[in-house]
Amino acid sequence: MIKKGIILAGGKGTRMSPLTKAVNKQLLPIYDKPLIFYPLSILMLAKIKDILIIVNKGQLDQYKKILPDGKNLGIKISYAEQVSPRGLPDAFIVGEKFIGKENVVLILGDNFFYGQNLSKKLIENCKLKNGARVLLHKVIKPELYGVAKINKKNKITLIKEKPKKFVSDLAITGLYFFDNKVVELSKKLKPSKRGEIEITDLLNLYKSKNKLEADIIGRGGAWLDTGSIEDFYKTSAFVSSIENRQGLKIACLEEIALLNKWIDKKNIKNSIKFYGNCDYSKYLKNLI
Ligand code: DAU
Repeated sequence: MIKKGIILAGGKGTRMSPLTKAVNKQLLPIYDKPLIFYPLSILMLAKIKDILIIVNKGQLDQYKKILPDGKNLGIKISYAEQVSPRGLPDAFIVGEKFIGKENVVLILGDNFFYGQNLSKKLIENCKLKNGARVLLHKVIKPELYGVAKINKKNKITLIKEKPKKFVSDLAITGLYFFDNKVVELSKKLKPSKRGEIEITDLLNLYKSKNKLEADIIGRGGAWLDTGSIEDFYKTSAFVSSIENRQGLKIACLEEIALLNKWIDKKNIKNSIKFYGNCDYSKYLKNLI
């Protein structure tokens, strides 16, 4: 089972300026929580307890205020700074020491996943021993994402980053499962025309060795990317309508930790004190 996870939570956030001038994008709200809670909740649902959050140089203090070290959630959060947004595979270079000799999951800090059986799917994919695995999801604007073409056996036949011409409507979501070779392979990548090392180039290296697998998030699952201000509002509306209909929160970190039996009532009480008098705390009170 993969035990280590990285959240890549840096980036310039230029598309969301001026909102992102003083605050990192992943700390902005998706409805009632900072965006970073959602990818973190996904790693926790995958039963991953050892987590590295990669942030922009100079933004560490912002993150530590809201997610200090993970102790009260029963997990271990470490931080690393990325000097400049060199590209997604840089996560494995910056995170080399953290990864050590193990396999690793990468989730992009701005990716939102929701749906029945998601936890089961995550745990299943964490069983990866060799190679790499990606999660695909059908979208109507594939030109905005990395895309994959698959054959009848769900095998990937082609991968392309933001293709101008239609190749496939299956986007490669920002959740990746890799074996330990990822560190070495990432170091070999050369920057693309836009000056970044590309995740699709990394995946293509695995593909060329026949070591790339695909899993699909079907129509019962939701994958939302929060790249623009409009996306923030749409995702917030999605979370609000589900939470206010069911009375259950999406990405309540303490609830997941409690269900995983990583923490107890005492931790929940600590969190209530930490967050202060707010709706999130009220929800926590109801859990105990
Ligand atoms: O969301 C899924 C898509 O993410 C994939 O389909 C694409 O293949 C992949 O390239 C990526 O595309 P984006 O254009 O959405 O990536 P973006 O540059 O917006 O970065 C995603 C997140 O990672 C964002 O929260 C910022 C952070 N980031 C990005 C880079 C390049 C970093 O922290 N450091 C970086 O160097």
